[in-house]
Amino acid sequence: MHYVARITGTGSAFPENRLTNDDIALRLTQVGLETSDQWIRDRTGIVERRISNVENSAETNSSLGERAARNALEMAGRKPDDIDQIIYATCSPDTLIPATGCWLQSKIRARNAWAMDINAACSGFVYGTIIAEQFIRTGRSKTVLVVGAEVLSQFVNWHDRTICILFGDGAGAAIVERESAKSSQRIISSHLVSDGTLTELLHVPAGGSNMEVTPDRYERNLNKMQMNGREIFKVAVRTLTECALRSIEQWGMRADRLDWFVPHQANLRIIEAVANRLGFSMDKVVINLDRYGNTSAATIPTALDEAIRDGRIQPGQTVLVDAFGAGLTAGGLLFRW
Ligand code: UT7
Repeated sequence: MHYVARITGTGSAFPENRLTNDDIALRLTQVGLETSDQWIRDRTGIVERRISNVENSAETNSSLGERAARNALEMAGRKPDDIDQIIYATCSPDTLIPATGCWLQSKIRARNAWAMDINAACSGFVYGTIIAEQFIRTGRSKTVLVVGAEVLSQFVNWHDRTICILFGDGAGAAIVERESAKSSQRIISSHLVSDGTLTELLHVPAGGSNMEVTPDRYERNLNKMQMNGREIFKVAVRTLTECALRSIEQWGMRADRLDWFVPHQANLRIIEAVANRLGFSMDKVVINLDRYGNTSAATIPTALDEAIRDGRIQPGQTVLVDAFGAGLTAGGLLFRW
């Protein structure tokens, strides 16, 4: 028996607290640094982002993931007990041990599932969905919950103006299900890459097993993200374009024939450059980074969810999603909704 995988539901969730560009500018002024709403809008396209209050148990990574998962289950018409696999994509887990997917499993009481985390940074949702597809195609899984969720605000140095303007918190989820091979609503093709020679472009040096967080390292912000933004920008444009083209070519399709492009939301100028190279007009591109910033593994599922719920993405339409992130990791995925 041959199976294909289909996305049948999506969901998203964000914390309450909005942090505007002006709020950030004010904070930075207090430590003698400058930025402005205009600079951030012009260079990134971001206007505001949501920041979790991690003291509030409703805004932890797995709690945001729980809300997104419940919304996705509802859209798919499924119950937690229907899930047989949970793939939780995050690089800002609730805890290093155990996996955040296990915290989520307990919250939604998915008693028939097995859960795991994957860390592909901002590409996590695309990686997770492709892993789900492989389990489904082999007949091993039937109903997979894929979550992309982050509370990266905990890993931001709020005194580094090249980083603190970019990131926000949030969660997105999708239900990926087994379908008969005849179904046209399915995941069509995909392409994954990584380049481990580029690890230093975006990394958190301390807090893993090779460097504990000592008071001195804490003072030097080594437990926070360090980033070479200018270099990532260039690599991102090249890699996103390549992953998109490889995914489309496998299907023998042309980009301008596709209905929607849902890229990773890191910087509007990156998105415009890639859309331009692929021949997508910007009215076919789903954008949510103006309101949420870069939510890493959550950008694609939250943008997808928004466009499905507001009726832009219609059943039968083709959608190309495309992500890059720390690692460097990247992946394209083409599906028919
Ligand atoms: O999921 C992956 C996560 N990371 C990314 O996607 C990062 C991708 N890169 C970017 O988004 C952009 O490179 C940034 C938004 C980080 C920076 O924008 P840019 O246009 O590449 O600026 P730049 O680094 O070339 O810096 C231009 C100037 C510099 O000043 P000088 O050297 O020309 O005097 C920076 O110091 O802008 C300055 N600058 C700022 N000015 C005001 C850097 N950040 C700020 C700021 N406000 N927040």
